[in-house]
Amino acid sequence: MVALDGPSGTGKTTVARKLAERLSAGYLDTGAMYRVVTLAVLRAGADIADPVAVAAVAADAVFTIGTTPVRPRVTLAGADVAAEIRGPEVNHAVSPVSAVPAVRELLVARQRRIIDAVLAEVGGIVVEGRDIGTVVTPDAPLKVFLTASPEIRAARRNAQDTAAGRDSTHADALESVGRRDRLDSSRAASPLRAAEDAVHLDTSELEIDQVLVALTELASHRG
Ligand code: C5P
Repeated sequence: MVALDGPSGTGKTTVARKLAERLSAGYLDTGAMYRVVTLAVLRAGADIADPVAVAAVAADAVFTIGTTPVRPRVTLAGADVAAEIRGPEVNHAVSPVSAVPAVRELLVARQRRIIDAVLAEVGGIVVEGRDIGTVVTPDAPLKVFLTASPEIRAARRNAQDTAAGRDSTHADALESVGRRDRLDSSRAASPLRAAEDAVHLDTSELEIDQVLVALTELASHRG
């Protein structure tokens, strides 16, 4: 099992999926779980600043998350929401929602169950998020913390948004990346930080394939 943590725009998702494919392993995008719960909160019209209301919606949300690296399905109330959970409304609300301790408890428990099931069935899994190496699976044999400069991360986020047909400018992306970093790193419950035994990899100057080579090499020893 590989635990892959780090902020957005480091290439984490692309690399995690490619690595899982290469290792014939399963894949879990824990960010998608926080995003789908956030979408449920927005749809319910709950106040994202009210932790009790947010926790209640999270507890009732009926969602599924795919564990294949190629086009993993995400559903909410039976409908595919893979595109909607990447939109600006969810981007804006996801950090406050994921800072609610009851939401984290619920999702971490579910993540552990999914990881156990995939490990039993497929034998390996690449899990990406913010707190995988520190909280979800602190015993993971390989923990990697990806970083990149805020400028580069914003440029990548902007390119992704534009490719997906969403309105975006570099300045918007920089602001959004910076805001989520601040919120994710400063929250009391499981802040974004590297595990002490994580391997740090700065992807600022690396192409995805170079990151993949480095991770495949690490996984062949420790994954
Ligand atoms: O990885 P992604 O950018 O999709 O994650 C969206 C948000 O979900 C993050 O900004 C963070 O607030 C939250 N998250 C989290 N813990 C995780 C994964 C994501 O708090 N393990």
